[in-house]
Amino acid sequence: MLKKLFGKREVPVVELASHGLKFEVPRGKTLLEAAQDAGIGFPCDCKVGTCGTCRFKLLDGKLSELNSAAVCLSGEDFRDGWRLGCQSIPVTSLRIHLAGLVSEVGPPPSLFEGKVASVTPLSHDIVELRLQLNRPLTFIPGQYADLRIDGIDGARSYSFAEAPEQGSTDRPCFHVRRVPGGAFTTWLFEGDRVGFALTLRGPLGQFRLRQADGPIVCVAGGSGLAPIKCMLEKALLDQCVRPVTLLYGGREQRDLYCRHAIAELAASWPAPFDYIPVLSTEDAQSDWTGQRGLVADKLLGLPELAQSQIYLCGPPPMVDAAESIALRAGVPSDAVFADRFFDRSKPGAISSGTGTA
Ligand SMILES: Cc1cc2nc3c(=O)[nH]c(=O)nc-3n(C[C@H](O)[C@H](O)[C@H](O)COP(=O)(O)OP(=O)(O)OC[C@H]3O[C@@H](n4cnc5c(N)ncnc54)[C@H](O)[C@@H]3O)c2cc1C
Ligand code: FES
Repeated sequence: MLKKLFGKREVPVVELASHGLKFEVPRGKTLLEAAQDAGIGFPCDCKVGTCGTCRFKLLDGKLSELNSAAVCLSGEDFRDGWRLGCQSIPVTSLRIHLAGLVSEVGPPPSLFEGKVASVTPLSHDIVELRLQLNRPLTFIPGQYADLRIDGIDGARSYSFAEAPEQGSTDRPCFHVRRVPGGAFTTWLFEGDRVGFALTLRGPLGQFRLRQADGPIVCVAGGSGLAPIKCMLEKALLDQCVRPVTLLYGGREQRDLYCRHAIAELAASWPAPFDYIPVLSTEDAQSDWTGQRGLVADKLLGLPELAQSQIYLCGPPPMVDAAESIALRAGVPSDAVFADRFFDRSKPGAISSGTGTA
């Protein structure tokens, strides 16, 4: 009856004035979700309003925001019309300006059908999840994909953990850490999931190794090792000769994983490669002779830190701490690259009705 009185609500259309592209935004979807569904490589790293990667300038139209207190936009940005794709729901059709598309540096995202090929334990709380897809996928090491299964609301993001030797793969793999109370990881860890159907949307994200000559410093925590390992494997294939320091943070010895793969990488690397595991709560009486403390703090002792590129990945508090230490130590902000593994406990992670992760 109401529909008859007021007519059918038109689906808002977003025009990317900077690129001559248009896409529709179905009801309840964010601008970012709709762009990605349309195969447009709208930049994004966190999807929770924190990284600022998805910022765009609103030229015309009206929108509502999931989280109006986005920390990565200043009051001045806001007054100048800057908004976040992951937090914006169009109310009317929009015209926007975007600085660049992910597809200008890598393949555009698309949807793949797949199934679980294997689940292999890597540590007490991390597994390697390997998929079999219906067709090969190309990605830039450092990027991630959104996985979706029937019965769990919303997608979950996982970073590619292995660099394909031939540039693409139909058997991508991920490192998934169990999150207490988490829907997807509880499902994955509590049963034999081989053969289960899922969909993958990707590749997504901007995290990747950037061209430079100076040292590469990586700081990873938990399954944050996955994209770092993947990036370094690809750099080795590309005959990178830059020195590498890889700081890996865990609580106890049992958290250290992929040590053999990292040792092989270090042995094949044509320049110095230091792998430094750091444990924060290892028993003082144990046989551990390596570094202790918070992994981010270990950045400070590194030689040539200010001349290095810094790659940070893992739990947001660890990444935040490492980022501020690096900046305070004189590393320019455009030489610090971060990938934060946000989950749904972060406000803004769950958009109305559609449940992004
Ligand atoms: C870009 C990116 C890349 C990532 N890459 C990886 C990776 O390579 N490996 C990896 O292990 N993880 C990665 N993550 C994290 C991953 O996407 C999932 O968030 C994680 O696996 C948890 O999923 P889950 O379904 O088990 O937990 P969820 O069900 O999403 O729950 C996570 C936590 O939030 C709580 N929670 C759930 N709903 C709510 C709510 N409404 N309000 C408050 N709290 C809530 C839960 O109790 C739990 O503690 C990445 C995240 C991002 C953003
Ligand atoms: S702020 Fe939107 S993707 Fe990070």
